[in-house]
Amino acid sequence: MFLCCWLALVAFVPATSSINPGVKVKLTGKGLEYGRQLGMLSIGQKLKTIKVPDVSGKKRVSPIGKVRYSLSNMQIVNVALPKSAVELVPGTGIKLSIGNAFISLRGNWRVKYLRIIKDSGSFDLNVNGVSITTSIAMRSDETGRPVVSSVNCAASVSSANVKFHGGASWLYNLFRSFASKAIRSEMQKQLCPLVADAVNDLNPQLKTLNVVAKVDKYAEIEYSMVASPTVSKSSIDLSLKGEFYNIGKHQEPPFSPTVFALPPQTTNMLYIGVSAFTTNSAGFVYNKAGALSLYITDDMIPQGSPIRLNTRTFGALIPQIAKRFPGLMMKMLVKTVKDPAVTYQANNVTVQATGTVTAYAIQPNATLSPLFVLNLDTSVSARVFVSGVRIAGAVSLNKMGLTLGTSYVGDFKVGILDSILQMVLKVVVIPRLNVQLAKGYPLPSLGKMKLVNTELQVLKDYMLIGTDVQFAG
Ligand SMILES: *[C@@H]1O[C@H](CO)[C@@H](O)[C@H](O)[C@H]1NC(C)=O
Ligand SMILES: *[C@@H]1O[C@H](CO)[C@@H](O)[C@H](O)[C@H]1NC(C)=O
Repeated sequence: MFLCCWLALVAFVPATSSINPGVKVKLTGKGLEYGRQLGMLSIGQKLKTIKVPDVSGKKRVSPIGKVRYSLSNMQIVNVALPKSAVELVPGTGIKLSIGNAFISLRGNWRVKYLRIIKDSGSFDLNVNGVSITTSIAMRSDETGRPVVSSVNCAASVSSANVKFHGGASWLYNLFRSFASKAIRSEMQKQLCPLVADAVNDLNPQLKTLNVVAKVDKYAEIEYSMVASPTVSKSSIDLSLKGEFYNIGKHQEPPFSPTVFALPPQTTNMLYIGVSAFTTNSAGFVYNKAGALSLYITDDMIPQGSPIRLNTRTFGALIPQIAKRFPGLMMKMLVKTVKDPAVTYQANNVTVQATGTVTAYAIQPNATLSPLFVLNLDTSVSARVFVSGVRIAGAVSLNKMGLTLGTSYVGDFKVGILDSILQMVLKVVVIPRLNVQLAKGYPLPSLGKMKLVNTELQVLKDYMLIGTDVQFAG
């Protein structure tokens, strides 16, 4: 039977930090159930390592006198764990109960009596009704990774039956009860430490949480826990920092995470909420690092396009260019001047980016002569998706607005450049950006975790990834 109604209060580290998480992770009952299955395999393996020391003793039996007996070479042959359950205990931790477990072992017996008479054989021992209950406490270690431990473990063994092979039955009866009792208590002593070992074995796995996930040469994402996990009736919730940083130079952006709550869905094992803060911290890092700039040259424009990056094309629209810089190739620098801002609305991810476009004529001696600077306001729509254990995206142009910043070629109406700039964004800038976005950004993950049945939803202020997980091997 399950040892029910047994409940341990596990003290959690209180949330000392006031940092709001950028990423939230929720492990549901379904996730916990998968964890139980993996955990039981591990506990089963551990219980097979029970070592029962030899048992020996002597007993005076009339009329033959003193009989010495020993049980040795005891080996576990089978462990069956038919019943187990995990349960979330709100505010405290996870309760694991194993009931009706069965352990069988085999060994050798030996007796000696009347000084010279020896007898020996083998025996089978079945230990029934093994019950173990323990609480699994979870906290955050100094690196921001979760650590689990088994606390308040209790184990009991209800009975042990021995079956002897060989020898005379009157002999067995001498030590049958003594032997079962000794073995039973020896086993009982070892159950909790072995379960604690199995729980501790999870920690090397948990240590693989990518608290600092490298993205590329500019950025890394920090996924350390900003508070201890919280346990409710239906889930374990982790609060992770979820912030992009410039590699080697951790500078905080001028904005901070806003509070967001994951919806009460529990159909998947795991839910990961990635807030607008996380994406915006990426915009801050890449913009600061100067990574959001691109020189555009004529060779980047498709061969078939009638629009070329030269003073002939532009000179047709702005005669000053044709006049002052005849027959030259051109170059354009497109770069952001502000951190791009991402907005999440239901089923809609929009990025606003503000930048400049500087056009140059390339002199025969390679000197760049500036022609004009335009201010560029763009709005792009993003499609986001999960690829492997990464989140990736692709953007398309929504809207573009141009105003004149500076002109070195006299006054002109900016509107005449609209279609050229649209083309440049659509065929040069955005495809290159999409190559980067398709590479994806690592999600928080453990070891060889694989995501299956994954769905991504865009909600107000965050993206929600609902997924099941699989651990290889
Ligand atoms: C997404 O939202 C933006 C800004 O709120 C809006 O301009 C755009 O039309 C929306 N896109 C879709 C597909 O609803
Ligand atoms: C390059 O050529 C331009 C135009 O002829 C001239 O104004 C500039 O001084 C030259 N620069 C150098 C470094 O020779």
